[in-house]
Amino acid sequence: MSSMRLPFVLCTLAIAASSIALTGCDSKAADSKEAPVKAAATQTPGGGQSRAEVLAHVKMMSSLGEKLFMDPSLSGSGKLACALCHSPQHAFGPPNALSVQLGGSDIHRPGSRAVPSLKYLQSVPQFVEHFHDSDDEGDESVDAGPTGGLTWDGRVDHGADQARIPLLSSFEMGSTLAKVTAAVKAAPYADEFKKAFGANVFNDDKKAFEQTPQKFFPYTSKFDAFLAGRAKLNDAQPRLELFNDEKKGNCASCYISNRAKDGSPPQFSDFGLIAIGVPRNRNLPINKDRSSTISARAVPSAPT
Ligand code: HEC
Repeated sequence: MSSMRLPFVLCTLAIAASSIALTGCDSKAADSKEAPVKAAATQTPGGGQSRAEVLAHVKMMSSLGEKLFMDPSLSGSGKLACALCHSPQHAFGPPNALSVQLGGSDIHRPGSRAVPSLKYLQSVPQFVEHFHDSDDEGDESVDAGPTGGLTWDGRVDHGADQARIPLLSSFEMGSTLAKVTAAVKAAPYADEFKKAFGANVFNDDKKAFEQTPQKFFPYTSKFDAFLAGRAKLNDAQPRLELFNDEKKGNCASCYISNRAKDGSPPQFSDFGLIAIGVPRNRNLPINKDRSSTISARAVPSAPT
């Protein structure tokens, strides 16, 4: 589970988990004729699935996840889908300039934090209080402090747990597990859901992760083309040098701009969580009555 970072797939899993919890863990599903595609697939001699089977399963999970992601009927109001806050047309971030989005049963309740983009989450490491670089990548003796995890303060490690937060939060989708399950049962994709999940619903998440939807980490910027040797930076080259130069910008010391030693593309983040003392946004209802003490867990860009 630790590597689950995919919004579509995790959305599927979170909702599947809710449904299974509520239906008393429908163990019959695994044996029934409606057994999940994964279980029905021919096993390779080693006991695992063939690459084609894994791909087919992942494709199904992603397609189902996409439908769940777009489906407002999972919310308490019946009007708020994940996609309304994490808009596919806006890099899976907010579709407007509001500091926080509105949610809850009447879609009028302001949230408490800015909506992050859901892109490039696949490399976020699990939260640790004391992060040390690996032998290969840097100086292992340096304690880089709190690092990793999902959400602005890194408090969530598992993608499926993350997806449950907005589903159930009173100022976001404001739903209940029972409502989510009922909505999925009544949805046009209910049969697809039944096909995809049985008692073994969580067994494949790692494999699912290996074939993640390109939408969430396309690596199609000019910089990516430059790293791949397919483009020149021209005017931007001096700016990159300034960005990287330890004696000048030194930005790259936190916003890492080189490929990792295994060749994977840079994420422009070291995933560190740092208290930089940004004042609370007093215009947000959640902050009106709070004293001015800033949380030690405050993080860059979080508006609370
Ligand atoms: C009302 C707006 C809203 C809706 C609807 C919503 N989210 Fe979010 N989402 C947020 C906010 C705000 C955060 C940041 C929360 C925090 O830091 O505490 C967030 C964070 C996340 C993150 C973590 C991103 C990161 O950078 O760590 C994921 C993953 C995510 N949401 C997935 C989903 C999924 C899946 C759904 C639908 C089931 C969904 N969200 C629905 C507002 C929303």
